[in-house]
Amino acid sequence: MAKKLHFYRCPICHSMVDVIHDEGHSLHCCETEMQLLIPRTADERDPNHEIVLTHRSGLLYVKVGSKPHPQSEEHQITTLFLVTKDHTRRHDIRKGTPASAVFSDTDHGDVYAYCNKEGLFKASF
Ligand SMILES: [Fe+2]
Repeated sequence: MAKKLHFYRCPICHSMVDVIHDEGHSLHCCETEMQLLIPRTADERDPNHEIVLTHRSGLLYVKVGSKPHPQSEEHQITTLFLVTKDHTRRHDIRKGTPASAVFSDTDHGDVYAYCNKEGLFKASF
């Protein structure tokens, strides 16, 4: 089973942090409490955010959106994470490039996609 990640976001400036070990203390930014992001699971009913995983030749291909996700300044996938019980891998996506990444494949994991407009999405395998 993959370890759990806890992402918090500032509701004012939208800075985001990943807490490695969460003891439940509140985090503050811009003089306000940061909000825990609860990942959602998108499916074919939300084709822009569905996380599509393809396992091939020892690699894991990750693509966000069975219908390509917009990658504009106002609405883009900025970061993808692959989390297993032993590792966390992060892929930052440059502005204007497709919301996709390639990781070394594993037998289990959670893939997180952060959308700067709609929040956090997750798919498990
Ligand atoms: Fe989005």
